[in-house]
Amino acid sequence: MNETARPEIIYYAAVSLDGYIADPGGGVEFLDRYMQLGEDYGFSNFESSINGIIMGSGTYEKSLELAPWSGGDKPCWVFSLRNLKPAAPGVIITSNTPEQVVDEMYEAGVRRAWFMGGGKLASSFRRFDLLTEYNLALVPEILGEGIPLFEPSDTAEPLHLIDSKVHPSGLVQLRYRRRDD
Ligand SMILES: NC(=O)c1ccc[n+]([C@@H]2O[C@H](COP(=O)([O-])OP(=O)(O)OC[C@H]3O[C@@H](n4cnc5c(N)ncnc54)[C@H](OP(=O)(O)O)[C@@H]3O)[C@@H](O)[C@H]2O)c1
Repeated sequence: MNETARPEIIYYAAVSLDGYIADPGGGVEFLDRYMQLGEDYGFSNFESSINGIIMGSGTYEKSLELAPWSGGDKPCWVFSLRNLKPAAPGVIITSNTPEQVVDEMYEAGVRRAWFMGGGKLASSFRRFDLLTEYNLALVPEILGEGIPLFEPSDTAEPLHLIDSKVHPSGLVQLRYRRRDD
């Protein structure tokens, strides 16, 4: 196997102007207004471009608290060191490292994966240099406090903008890749 071959991993999430993906209790009600406007924000195109999903147990448990499993039939790797129950046949609960999982995903045929979050797992993925693209919806809201897009880390990462779109609601879609790509 070519050891450097790995899937594209795109952190696709919505973030407040002050860098939070959820309020302090993990809620995402700050997004409701933008979802109710009926705009797709490019989600359908993005969703059809990926063939695997990655998330941390915080994101997984919160999403199941809000609604029944919505991951569709795409395989989804959920990181947890606890013995969580898979919510659907395509859900794989894993205690492996990010590097091991990304290699497993490649072996399983995944070439583009949606890194759903959250901030804790994102920082682990950044530590291993595994996030290849950031596709973020910058939401015109300031939360003041909450769950950050990334946990603090000591590694800087220069990026370059590859696309942007301003939506009538004031939400701005931003796509960044690493500057050396
Ligand atoms: N706005 C958005 O678009 C958006 C997107 C995604 C998520 N969210 C929100 O973000 C919140 C969750 O984010 P979060 O940062 O608290 O949690 P998270 O990153 O989703 O999950 C972190 C948990 O994953 C487990 N884990 C296993 N291996 C890990 C590793 N190598 N590195 C890091 N964690 C690992 C740990 O729990 P155990 O091992 O104990 O299970 C850890 O506490 C939710 O409230 C969700 O609603 C918002």
